[in-house]
Amino acid sequence: MGPAVQRIYFDHNATTPVHPAVAERMAAVLTEDFGNPSSIHHFGQRSKALIDQARSAVAALIGADPSEITFTSGGTESDNLAIRGAAESLEKTRRHLIASAIEHEAVLNTLKALARRGALTTLLPVGESGIVSPDALAAALTEETALVSVMHANNEIGTIQPISELSTLAKARGALMHSDAVQSAGKIPVDVKALGVDLLSISAHKFHGPKGIGAIWIRRGVRLPPIATGGKQERGRRAGTENVAGIVGMGVAAEIARTKMVEDGARLSSLRDRLEDGILRAVPGTVVNGVRSPRVPNTTNISFDRVEAESLLIALDLEGIAVSTGSACSSGTLEPSHVLKAMGFPPHRTQNSIRFSLGTSNSQADVDHVIAVLPGLVEKLRHLTRTPVRA
Ligand SMILES: Cc1ncc(COP(=O)(O)O)c(C=O)c1O
Repeated sequence: MGPAVQRIYFDHNATTPVHPAVAERMAAVLTEDFGNPSSIHHFGQRSKALIDQARSAVAALIGADPSEITFTSGGTESDNLAIRGAAESLEKTRRHLIASAIEHEAVLNTLKALARRGALTTLLPVGESGIVSPDALAAALTEETALVSVMHANNEIGTIQPISELSTLAKARGALMHSDAVQSAGKIPVDVKALGVDLLSISAHKFHGPKGIGAIWIRRGVRLPPIATGGKQERGRRAGTENVAGIVGMGVAAEIARTKMVEDGARLSSLRDRLEDGILRAVPGTVVNGVRSPRVPNTTNISFDRVEAESLLIALDLEGIAVSTGSACSSGTLEPSHVLKAMGFPPHRTQNSIRFSLGTSNSQADVDHVIAVLPGLVEKLRHLTRTPVRA
């Protein structure tokens, strides 16, 4: 057997490692604080107190009141609760739903499902900047619009949307405003009041918490019907015995993220810039997508001319470097990234992009290793397909 490959993880937008302090607290809850939070006795009340504590920590991460936080099974469920809930509660008079064309599937496929049941839907274009234009939203809003859903930061390219401006427009037409903040919470400051939204989704595993736990913030006064009926947990907004260990883990992760975000963000953005500059300099035929727009500090999305992204991902993985592609392989053909497609890029850019998403464990040495390894891999793949680099 050869020497073990040293692994470098550059896929933090997919998920992050659980922080050791989070894992430690969760282990204690699983074994010691196992009571059902609905139980009246000591064990139940202890679990309930732990949930309340976590609720305060999660609320503090997004500038919210703890009573407005509902724990869910993650970003997907939060998005579903927001969109299906808004559609259902306003269905009779308002049948129109608006989202950006670059939303996560949790939003896009929920809209598609509701469209099959008669909802009218509009997807807002973004253009090369990867940013939703307020003018496009203003033009799309009607008296029938129930909800506008625009993500705070995009998972593929990291662009940050002008949510407060969009919220003002939505509110003026009587629509609810939802933002999927799964990729921004824990990375950049998120303040529900400053954003002016009514509903906001977050997910713990994107900021060093466990998978399978998230939250939706619901502005006080907004009524959303639950999507699962059952017990009265979470003030009747989300039935089912609470995932106490997950909730506690999310609370600890939120607390750590809140206190370290600014420092970590500054370090990550300088590493990200070093990575981008290094790749652009060392590999001809490369371009950074969304580079001129405001972006979260840890993300870069780079198209490599004449290199199939999937092949480059595999070549990097063999070198111990984990990244991801925006495009998805389905039935043997490479589907272009819906985000880059919405930005109006041609196939050689939408099918050839790699996302590097950095995290706290990444070092300058990791970045320099990628910059050293990448030119050779790209060269080899281009040689295999015998295609010259586009000028
Ligand atoms: C923008 C965005 N929204 C929603 C989700 C789904 O979150 P979860 O995995 O917690 O269901 C993700 C996860 O990749 C995401 O990036």
